[in-house]
Amino acid sequence: MPINNKAILNISKNEFKKICSEYNVTIREGLLLLQSIVNITYTELFFTELIKLSYLQYCKFIEYITRRSNSEPIAKIIGYKYFYNNKFYTNEYTLDPRPETELIVDLFFKYFPTKNEHLKILDLGCGTGCIGLSILLYYNNAELHLADISKEALKIAELNAKSLNVINKCKLIKSDWFKAIHKQYDAIVSNPPYIANDYKLDKEVLFDPHEALFAGIEGMDAYNIILPVAHEYLKNNGKLFIEIGYNQLEAIKKINTNLKILEVKKDLNNIDRTIVFIKN
Ligand SMILES: C[S@@+](CC[C@H](N)C(=O)[O-])C[C@H]1O[C@@H](n2cnc3c(N)ncnc32)[C@H](O)[C@@H]1O
Repeated sequence: MPINNKAILNISKNEFKKICSEYNVTIREGLLLLQSIVNITYTELFFTELIKLSYLQYCKFIEYITRRSNSEPIAKIIGYKYFYNNKFYTNEYTLDPRPETELIVDLFFKYFPTKNEHLKILDLGCGTGCIGLSILLYYNNAELHLADISKEALKIAELNAKSLNVINKCKLIKSDWFKAIHKQYDAIVSNPPYIANDYKLDKEVLFDPHEALFAGIEGMDAYNIILPVAHEYLKNNGKLFIEIGYNQLEAIKKINTNLKILEVKKDLNNIDRTIVFIKN
C-alpha cells in the first residue's frame, strides 16, 4: 500500500512519553527535538495533549531520537544552540557553544561598559562566532574580526553574522592563530582548544571537531602560541579575554607574556575559567 506523506498522525502525550522512554531520551530532550521539526514553541508543545504530526515529521522525529539515543548532542542534531540568548547555528565543523563561555561576554561588558565606544574586536578561534557576535550585538560602533583555521567553521560564523544582522560589521579571516592577522585591536576574545590529547572525553563531546578540542600533550599548545605574542595585536590598554581549562591557571601563569593579569573569573562549578589580560 502506498504511503500517504500528508497523513496526519495523532500522538497522545502518553504515547510520546513512551517513545522517549523506549529510546532512553528524556521528555525535555524529546520535546526539544520535536520542537525543531514542528512550528510550535517548546511551551506550547509542553502543554499540548495531542501532538499532530505529518508522516514525514514523524519519520524525522524518529531519526532525531535515534541519533540522540546514540549520544549525539541535541545541538548537532537540530543544528543550533542558544548562547547569550541568541540562536547560533552549529554543525560538525564547529564546537557547540557552551554556557561557561558566556563568562567571557559578561567580563567584556564589565571592562567595556560604554555602548557607543568605537571598538575593534578580534574573536580568535571563533568557531560559530558565538563570543564575538554576542559582544558585537551590544555596541553601536564596534567592528568584529572573526578568525579561525577552519574554513568550514568560518562559513558557520558568517551564517550566524548574517542571521543576527551584523555581517556588515564583520570580517572573516582564515588564520592559523595570528599568522594572517595584521591589525591591533582594543580587545581579543578567545576560547582556544585546551584538552590534553590523551584525555578520555564523554562520547557526546566527541561529536565536536577534534581541532576545536585538543591542544597537545598537556592541552597547552594554543596558549603557548597565543600568549607570548598577543601584545603585538593589542593597542595600549587593550585586553585579552581567554577561556582556560580545569587546573590550567598555574601553567598559564608560567608562560612568557608581555600582558598582565587583570582578573581570573571562576565558573559556576568554582573552576578558574576565564582570564582577563591587559597590555600596559
Ligand atoms: C574550543 S573551540 C571555540 C569555538 C568558539 N569560539 C566557542 O567558544 O564556541 C576552538 C576553535 O579554535 C579553532 N582553532 C583550532 N586551532 C586553530 C588555529 N591553529 N588557528 C586558529 N583557530 C584554531 C577551532 O577550529 C575552533 O573553532
